Amino acid sequence: MIIANWKMNGSKEEVSSWIKSVTEEVDFDNEKPCVFCPPSCYLDYSCSLIKETSSPIFLGSQNINYKKSSALTGGIDSKMLKEFLTKYVLIGHSEQRETFKETNEILHSKLLAAINEDILPIFCIGEPSEVKQKDNTEYFLGSQLEALYDVDLNGVIIAYEPIWAIGSGLNATKDYIEKIHSFVKEYCRSNLNSDVKISVVYGGSVNLSNCEEIMSSFEVDGLLVGGASLDPDIFSKIYNLS
Ligand code: 13P
Repeated sequence: MIIANWKMNGSKEEVSSWIKSVTEEVDFDNEKPCVFCPPSCYLDYSCSLIKETSSPIFLGSQNINYKKSSALTGGIDSKMLKEFLTKYVLIGHSEQRETFKETNEILHSKLLAAINEDILPIFCIGEPSEVKQKDNTEYFLGSQLEALYDVDLNGVIIAYEPIWAIGSGLNATKDYIEKIHSFVKEYCRSNLNSDVKISVVYGGSVNLSNCEEIMSSFEVDGLLVGGASLDPDIFSKIYNLS
């Protein structure tokens, strides 16, 4: 799967031209979902455009709250997301973990809220550079993966996004990604007792020049693209090459 995470970027006009261009330029493959995660305020509009043009693009939300219909200013719940045909939701992105101080307990509740409404979580994990330098990455990621304890992993996607690679232009090497993805898959098998085949996608400075190499690894099941996804031509090329 190839996922476009727009983060807090774009406008209504840009959403419209992105969906139009990507729908025209991408050689859609059923085995490789094409997922668009715009800012929440554009989900409704994106949903209408996707329906109008019968586009094969799937919608993903950048956020979800775990309570339903509650007094939470700025909140958005799973039932609301479902109204806009949201199929996926990003949970645990490092930017959200840091800004909103999301703990494993909160993330666990978010995972359950999504799954209960049949929205597939894209659960993000990743280590900061200090942890990598001290060679503590697996321990660090293991503690993040504990949020998946007792979660039905069927359909859950894990996104490995090393924090030092996000927006830095320094993507992780194919060997490093392979090692970490294989650790994540093994962790799910042994520590979460899951016999589900879990998909692990990579994110962190993915661009037109590195996407092919990263995707050529048998351990990489997709890409989570930030900055390079904003341009519909570049994103479509990344999808078609991957
Ligand atoms: P960049 O592709 O801009 O590094 O962002 C990665 C990311 O955080 C996607 O979720």
